[in-house]
Amino acid sequence: MFKSLFRRKTIDRILIDAKKGEGDGHASGLKRVLSVRDLTFFGIAAIIGAGSFSSLGDAVFRGGPGIVILFIICGIACAFTAFCYSDFATRIPVAGSAYTYAYASFGEILAWIIGWALLMEYSIGNIYVAFSWSDYFTSFLGKLNIYIPDFLSCSYREAHQAFLGNVNNAEWLNAWNIAPTLSGLKIIFDLPAVVINILITILVYVGVKESRNFSNVMVVLKLAIVLLVILVGTYLIFSNGLTNNWQPENAVGLASFMPNGFGGVMFAVSGVFFAYIGFDAVSVLAEESKNPQRDLPRGMIYSLVICTVVYILLSMVLTGAAHYSKFEGIGDPLAFIFEKENLNIGWMQFLVSICAVVAMTSVMLVFQMGQPRIWMSMSRDGLLPPAFQKIHHKFKTPSFATVVTGLLVGLPLLFTDRKFVLDFTSIGTLFAFVLVCGGVLLIPPKKKVAGQFNMPQISGKYLFPLIVIASIITAQLLANNYFSDLLNIDFAADDATFKLSTLIFWIVTFLLAIIAFIKNLLFIPLMGLTTCLYLLTGMSANNWKWFFIWFGIGFTVYIFYGFRKSKLSDE
Ligand code: ALA
Repeated sequence: MFKSLFRRKTIDRILIDAKKGEGDGHASGLKRVLSVRDLTFFGIAAIIGAGSFSSLGDAVFRGGPGIVILFIICGIACAFTAFCYSDFATRIPVAGSAYTYAYASFGEILAWIIGWALLMEYSIGNIYVAFSWSDYFTSFLGKLNIYIPDFLSCSYREAHQAFLGNVNNAEWLNAWNIAPTLSGLKIIFDLPAVVINILITILVYVGVKESRNFSNVMVVLKLAIVLLVILVGTYLIFSNGLTNNWQPENAVGLASFMPNGFGGVMFAVSGVFFAYIGFDAVSVLAEESKNPQRDLPRGMIYSLVICTVVYILLSMVLTGAAHYSKFEGIGDPLAFIFEKENLNIGWMQFLVSICAVVAMTSVMLVFQMGQPRIWMSMSRDGLLPPAFQKIHHKFKTPSFATVVTGLLVGLPLLFTDRKFVLDFTSIGTLFAFVLVCGGVLLIPPKKKVAGQFNMPQISGKYLFPLIVIASIITAQLLANNYFSDLLNIDFAADDATFKLSTLIFWIVTFLLAIIAFIKNLLFIPLMGLTTCLYLLTGMSANNWKWFFIWFGIGFTVYIFYGFRKSKLSDE
C-alpha cells in the first residue's frame, strides 16, 4: 500500500486523459477563448484585492515602513515560484494547476495533499475576501446614508468575541446586543458577504467569456484608482513634508524604518503574502487559453511584476501618509490615509471605497473560477466523484463543482472570522508553492522548444551554496547587531525569541545546498523552494496546529475515497 500512495501519473498520460473527455460533455469541453492579455488581466484581477485594500493596514502597524522589505521578499519568492509554475504549465497545459504538476512529479498522495492545500487558497481565501468586500461595501453605503444593521454586517464569531471582551470593537458588541434570536440562537451573519458570494457563483456558473469581459473592466478600473492613490499620496507626502514618517522612532527612541525590528516585519507575513496570492490562478485556465504553453507563463509573470511594483509603491505611500502606529485595527487603510486627520481628501476616500469593492469582486471571481477547475482535474483522476467533472451542456462550465465551491465559501462565512481564514490561507498556499518548486527539482529539465516558455537553466551547483553560506553569515552578523548602528534596527532582540521553525529552516536549507552541489540542481526552483520555506517561518504555532488538523482530515478522505477510486488503482 505504501508504494501505491506514491504512484505517479506520467505527463503523457495526463495529456491523453485531458484530451479524452473532449466531446462527451466532460473534461476538456471548455472553450479556448483567453489570450495573453486576458491571462495577465486575470492574474491582476486575482492578485490586487483584500490584501492591499484590507490586510495591509495591520501589516503596516506591525512592521512600519520596513514592510516594504517584506513585500520585496514575498515578490521574489512568488517570482521564483511563478517560473516553476510556468515550467510545469508548459509541460502539462491542462487545468488543475499545482495539483496536476504534483501528480507527475511526487505521486498521488502529495498530489492529493496539494489539491487539499489549494482548497485553502481558493475557497478559504475567498472567505477573507468576501468579509473585506463587505467591510468596504458597508462603509460605502454609509457614505450614501444607507445603513445595514450591525448584526447583519459582521460574523457571529466576531460579535461573540466582542461580547466575551476578547476584542474591543463597538460595532461587533452592538451586533451581539441587538441581534434577534431564533430558538435561543442569535441571528448574526455578514449579509453582504453572503450575497456577493451568491452573485459571483451565478456569474461563474454562467460562463468564462462573460466572466472575462466583466473581469477585464474591473481590472482597468482598479489599476487606475490604485495609481491615483499612489500619485496623489506621493504628491501630498512631499508637499506636506511628511517624509519623516518613513523613519519613525523605535522602542529606544532612534529613527528607524523598522521600528518594531525585523521580527515586527515578519509578524505581518500572512497579510503581505495574501496580497500576492492569485498569480498562480492563471495556471488553472490552461484549457481555456488559446496558446497555454506560450501565454500562461507570460500572463503569470507579467501580472506578478506589475503587482509587485504597485505594492512597493503603495506601501511607501501608506507609511509616508500617516505614522505607522495609527494603523492599529484599520481595515480600510487606503481610504484611511485620506481621512481628515491624515491627508484630508474626502473625494479620494469615496473613490477608494468604490474601487475596493470592485477590486475584491474581481478577486472573488477569479478564485471562484479556479477552484472548480482543480476539482475537475481531481475528479478526472478518480480522486473525487465524477460529478465534479461534469460540464454544463449550455454554459460549458464545470457546473456542479462551481455550486459546491459557492457553498464551501458561503457556509463558513456564517461561523468563521477573517483573522483565522487569512492565516489559514497563507500557510496552505505557501505549502503548495513549496511543493511546486520542489516538484520542478524532481523531474528532468525540459528541452528548449521554440515558441514556448523555457525556464532559464541556471545551475545551482555553486551559486546556491554560495548564497546559503552568505545568508548564514549575514544572519549571524545581524543577530550580533553588527549593522544595527547603520540601520537603527535591533536584530538581536528579534533573535531573543527562539523559533523552532527558523532552526528547521536553516537545517533544511543547509542540506539543500549540499544536495544542490552534488546533484547540480537548477537555481530558480531551489530559490523558490527556499524563499517560500523562509516565509513559512513567519507562521505562528497556532497556524501550524490548524494546518496539521486540516491535513489529517484530508488524508482520511483520501484513504477512504481517493485511494480506492483512483484511476491508477486498477493498474
Ligand atoms: N491577493 C488576493 C487579495 O489580496 C487574494 O485579495
